[in-house]
Amino acid sequence: MTDTANEIALISASLELYAERHGDMAPRVYERFFEINPEAAALMEYSDEYMRRRMFASMLELFLSDEHLGPGGYLAWEVDNHIKAYFATTAMYESLFQSIRDVLNQDLETECRSEWQQAWASRIARLMEHVRKF
Ligand code: HEM
Repeated sequence: MTDTANEIALISASLELYAERHGDMAPRVYERFFEINPEAAALMEYSDEYMRRRMFASMLELFLSDEHLGPGGYLAWEVDNHIKAYFATTAMYESLFQSIRDVLNQDLETECRSEWQQAWASRIARLMEHVRKF
């Protein structure tokens, strides 16, 4: 398995265990996101639950495949769109990604394995390399 495939497998395993233990992760992640980044909370003040779920699902896709990371791919399009249309910032992306890690650590406690944490850290660094190009 390549490093990326290995990381993706670890991330996927962590999400599966989370769903088994606690069900839907999205509301917890938004709660944490808004706590650590009040400016992002203000931007998303009027977004409804369904929109937030769609956004969360799109974000997870980026963690589970490299398919959308190329030049002109979904991530590049999405970041450009978010910065122009919603005034999102790269710091907000960092907070959003950090929120997932915080929720996994907090809710899974000792069940959150260290190789999962490393896989998330490495994948976040990779996505942030793309986000920072804007
Ligand atoms: C990789 C990360 C992200 C992905 C994949 C993503 C994806 C999406 C998608 C697909 C939508 C449209 C949902 C729909 O109406 O169907 C959306 C809307 C939105 N996103 Fe994101 N997003 C990301 C990060 C962020 C960040 C960091 C912010 C900063 C606060 C943000 C703020 C918003 C806002 C304000 C909307 C519009 C809400 C509305 O229409 O009321 N997003 N996002």
